[in-house]
This record gives sequence, structure tokens and C-alpha cells, in this order.
Amino acid sequence: MEAPGGAGVDLDLDAEEAESAVTLSGALLNGALLALLLFAAYRLYRRWARRSGRERAAGSEADWLPVMKRRDFTLEQLREYDGVQIPRILLAVNGKVFDVTKGKKFYGRDGPYGIFAGRDASRGLATFCLDKDALREEYDDLSDLNAVQMESVREWEMQFMEKYDYVGRLLKPGDEPSEYTDEEDTKDHSKQD
Ligand code: HEM
Repeated sequence: MEAPGGAGVDLDLDAEEAESAVTLSGALLNGALLALLLFAAYRLYRRWARRSGRERAAGSEADWLPVMKRRDFTLEQLREYDGVQIPRILLAVNGKVFDVTKGKKFYGRDGPYGIFAGRDASRGLATFCLDKDALREEYDDLSDLNAVQMESVREWEMQFMEKYDYVGRLLKPGDEPSEYTDEEDTKDHSKQD
């Protein structure tokens, strides 16, 4: 039964407001959960894809090219290793040069990430951008990147350490290349100093 003076209508309105507030917060929670799930699924997929990529990486230049001697590179020296001028493909991430020849399907001329071949890929990876303008022609000290972007560069660096051979440092202008001993040269190339 309804209370006199229309109080029942007020009560009904309050109940409706409360219900819509609950529905809204429920929807927000669902949205956040969905975003989290999608992010987790993407990371899992990336991990799986990386592993299967490693297993499939046979039958290419990487099979017959000798392991590269440890050495440092200027930006200009690095650019020759684009898989075309020189069949080996190198790229730099966060100051470290990696031999990514076994990932030719990614970094070869027709690969989706071919723009990184022979280049310092840090800025493109940090900003998740594959445009030509995402990479600088001159040495890039990355000093304008924000904390999240720098964290992303470090994550990429770790992924490259895991998958590819570390070859040496990318030299800043004015830096001298290190002289690597035979011992440093023959030890596991995937480990940096
Ligand atoms: C919609 C956009 C994108 C999709 C769907 C995508 C998808 C993928 C997939 C499936 C892989 C793993 C492939 C495999 O291991 O077989 C991968 C790897 C990779 N992606 Fe993307 N990607 C996208 C955008 C980007 C962008 C914008 C960048 C860089 C700016 C990027 C950089 C990379 C790199 C560096 C790898 C690792 C390749 C390696 O293992 O050497 N991706 N991507």
C-alpha cells in the first residue's frame, strides 16, 4: 500500500536512483575488468608468439652467418646492417646493439618492423610507432621520453636480450669503441658486460 502525500513516489525515485548508481558502478567495474583481461591476454599471446617464433627461426641467413664478433657501433656503422647493404640485420635498443638476423621475417625489407633494421629502434618502440618520423636521423638521447615510455624501452631491451645475440654498444657522438678481448668475444653473446 502507498503512503499518503506521494511519499511512495519519492521512495520509488530513490530506489531507482540507487539502482542506476549500482548499475553504473557495475558497468565501470566490468569495463575495468575487461580491459585488464584483454591486457593480460595480449601479454600472454606475445609471450607465446615469442616462444614459437624462437622455435621457427631456422633456415635463414642466421644459420650460415657466423656469430658476430663483439664490437661497438656508431649510428652510421649500424645503418649498413639493414639486411640489404649487408645481409646481417642489427638494431639498437636503449644503447645496446642486437643481431636480429634470425628475426628476418620481422626486420627484413618486407617485414612489418623493417623500419628498425640498421637503426636505433628505441624511440619507435617507446612510442609504439612505426612511422619513419618515429626515428631520428641523428643520435637520439631519448631525453624527452616520459617515464612510461622509458620503462617500455627497458622492457623491449629485456625482450631482445632474451631472444637475440647482444653484439655491443651503440656509441654516442664522441664515444670511443671498446676493445673487446678474445675471451669477451667468445663468451655467450647474449650476455652483456
Ligand atoms: C595492431 C598493431 C600490432 C599488432 C597486431 C602486432 C602484433 C604482433 C605479434 C603477433 C607479434 C609476435 C609475432 C611472432 O612472434 O610471431 C609482434 C611482435 C613484435 N611487435 Fe607487434 N604488433 C602491432 C604493433 C606493433 C608496433 C606499433 C610495434 C612497434 C612500434 C611493434 C613491434 C613489435 C616487435 C619489436 C615485435 C617483436 C618481434 C621479434 O620477436 O623480434 N608491434 N607484434
